Amino acid sequence: MSNEIRVRFAPSPTGYLHVGGLRTALYNYLYAKKVGGKFILRIEDTDRTRYVEGAVENLIRSLKLVGLDFDEGPDVGGEFGPYFQSQRNDLYNLHIEELLEKDKAYRCFCSSEDLQKMREESLAKGLDTRYDGRCRHLAPEQVEAKIAAGEPYVIREKIPTEGEMFFHDATLCFQMWQSCASCHPIDGRPHPLNWDLLNDGIGNPKNTRSLLLSHETPPVMITGVRDKAETAVRAGIRYIQFAVRPEEDARVIDEYLRSLTPLPSPHMVKSRWTGKIKLSKDARKGKKTFKKAKCFQCHAGPYYTDKRKYDVGTANANEESKAFDTPSLIEVWRTAPYLNDGRAATMKDVLTTFNENGKHGKTSGLSEEEIQQLAEYVLSL
Ligand code: HEC
Ligand code: HEC
Repeated sequence: MSNEIRVRFAPSPTGYLHVGGLRTALYNYLYAKKVGGKFILRIEDTDRTRYVEGAVENLIRSLKLVGLDFDEGPDVGGEFGPYFQSQRNDLYNLHIEELLEKDKAYRCFCSSEDLQKMREESLAKGLDTRYDGRCRHLAPEQVEAKIAAGEPYVIREKIPTEGEMFFHDATLCFQMWQSCASCHPIDGRPHPLNWDLLNDGIGNPKNTRSLLLSHETPPVMITGVRDKAETAVRAGIRYIQFAVRPEEDARVIDEYLRSLTPLPSPHMVKSRWTGKIKLSKDARKGKKTFKKAKCFQCHAGPYYTDKRKYDVGTANANEESKAFDTPSLIEVWRTAPYLNDGRAATMKDVLTTFNENGKHGKTSGLSEEEIQQLAEYVLSL
């Protein structure tokens, strides 16, 4: 590596060079001259929305006028060109592709109006006005559809949010041996183990739950012992991590969990005509069976839960109350095994083996084919 000092002045052509900019240029120039280095001008012109016609020429003229001659830059050239940032786009695009591929960046489709509205809402609530990351968790199919529809986007870097970091950080825990992600590993989705947590008595282990939509579907926990997800998050920190943490840590974890969005099910199929994803033929028939078997009576609304508790005949003998909170069915394709203690390895098991008494929907009269179609439908949600 060469030891030559290279200083760079990089103004944006968004108007006339102002005094502050000129001062920065002067300091750069003087420093370069003092140490026998190079003074380089690069035009930072990638923000095309703020580009002002004629500003580049004006910039160069102003610098030359006051005697700040640059050694490399537009006009003069040099071996590290191009000196217009925008002419380096191919180079950047290459790196952007790589970042997107490695999941280190994402496309954001929010319009400037969206962003303005977001700022105003945050200000009204007394929160920070930074971007809330709503495009960060768009599913690949949603992104593809938006690109196909020609929606403009910008690239944002995927810096882990504070909440995401805390969720994965075992140093939060007393003795530092587990994080929330130890039991809720991939984006807050569950691993298949059971835990006998103390919030609902002993001897009744429960399958880990997905945290997707927890904040939208109170109460939470299989027994509904926590009135809402916010309470469960704080209880998790205190009683599972044995930690006392500032309220702010819990708040940012809430924020992270709220930002999780469901992935479309791989059981969906692509329409040959429109290219859009839709229910398969079997799943469409299963949707009818979902009604016929009265599943919708409890699995109602946009998240397929009426947020109430029922005894569907799945409780073990150690359970104080036999009634469980109706879970959301969104993304169940991803969260086997099923039922409170994970006894059902497949969707078919939920509908047959573990519904012998018919307390969990009217499935006993259904044919083998109807069961398969119903399972296909539920796994498509
Ligand atoms: C030792 C494993 C374990 C760890 C660590 C853990 N959880 Fe859980 N979590 C569970 C289990 C098991 C359930 C389901 C139990 C039940 O519903 O009764 C659950 C349920 C939840 C629920 C309720 C979900 C719903 O919609 O019903 C929330 C919210 C939650 N956990 C948040 C957290 C947070 C936040 C952390 C970190 C502070 C955390 N958990 C750490 C095992 C764990
Ligand atoms: C009376 C209300 C009620 C009806 C009707 C009902 N469910 Fe449920 N469902 C529940 C409750 C409560 C649970 C939680 C049971 C447990 O955890 O052991 C549940 C659990 C499930 C689960 C497991 C989800 C998971 O993540 O473990 C699936 C899948 C399911 N129901 C599908 C259906 C289908 C399909 C039907 C129609 C055949 C149906 N349910 C009818 C209340 C109901």
